[in-house]
Amino acid sequence: MASLQMCLPLSSTTRLRKRPVRCASDRRELFSRIAPVYDNLNDFLSLGQHRIWKRMAVSWSGAKTGDNVLDVCCGSGDLAFLLSEKVGSDGKVIGLDFSKDQLSVASSRQDSLLKPCYKNIEWVEGDALDLPFSDCIFDAITMGYGLRNVVDKRKALEEMFRVLKPGSRASVLDFNKSTRPFTAGIQEWMINNVVVPVATSYGFAKEYRYLKSSIKEFLTGKELEKLALEVGFSRAKHYEISGGLMGNLVATR
Ligand SMILES: C[S@@+](CC[C@H](N)C(=O)[O-])C[C@H]1O[C@@H](n2cnc3c(N)ncnc32)[C@H](O)[C@@H]1O
Repeated sequence: MASLQMCLPLSSTTRLRKRPVRCASDRRELFSRIAPVYDNLNDFLSLGQHRIWKRMAVSWSGAKTGDNVLDVCCGSGDLAFLLSEKVGSDGKVIGLDFSKDQLSVASSRQDSLLKPCYKNIEWVEGDALDLPFSDCIFDAITMGYGLRNVVDKRKALEEMFRVLKPGSRASVLDFNKSTRPFTAGIQEWMINNVVVPVATSYGFAKEYRYLKSSIKEFLTGKELEKLALEVGFSRAKHYEISGGLMGNLVATR
């Protein structure tokens, strides 16, 4: 089933304004609005499967004990918590997002979850397109359902490339823009018949209605591989997950 880790390239949430939400600040506001329900909706809509996809993404990142790692567009922190368990108390995790509200949910979760290793996570408010870090400092990077949402995908990949150590990997999980009509049809059916109705019951119909167009505007697996190689990664491989509904780009610097 489709997860709700959507994005929303358009919004009609503001009654004063009908124009598309294209700029970063509109997107930030939107993610801040849905922050309180985001985790519940993800679990409900994916029947918990997003947890498996996120574990796969962390595994593909190659993060290991003692590493210094980054989760870009961390939202409420799912991937950062998984990374934290991988790198352990000797490692360090930074979760970066531009929405204060999402970071505040992440920080509350960190306080309420009692695993000692979670102390190794630091939440940073920042822009995926202008990462506030020096070159070549991270051993691994994850990004979950973020690339589809940033206004400049090339720049986001360039920034991940810049801050990664040579030989290290970025693992980028998102909806798959399938080139197979059957898979694309199932994805569309789920969004129309499951995601939007459920989001409507939470009062976020308009925010989630545009998931479909965001996938249409996204890149296919092959296009993602090509873009990663263009920005300098030495290897790039896109894996389809769950029958092609989701996808994960693994790019090695
Ligand atoms: C769909 S959520 C994914 C959250 C989390 N990674 C997950 O998988 O549950 C996308 C997140 O990307 C963040 N985001 C979008 N554009 C961003 C940017 N340019 N810089 C930092 N964060 C951004 C949003 O605030 C939001 O929290």
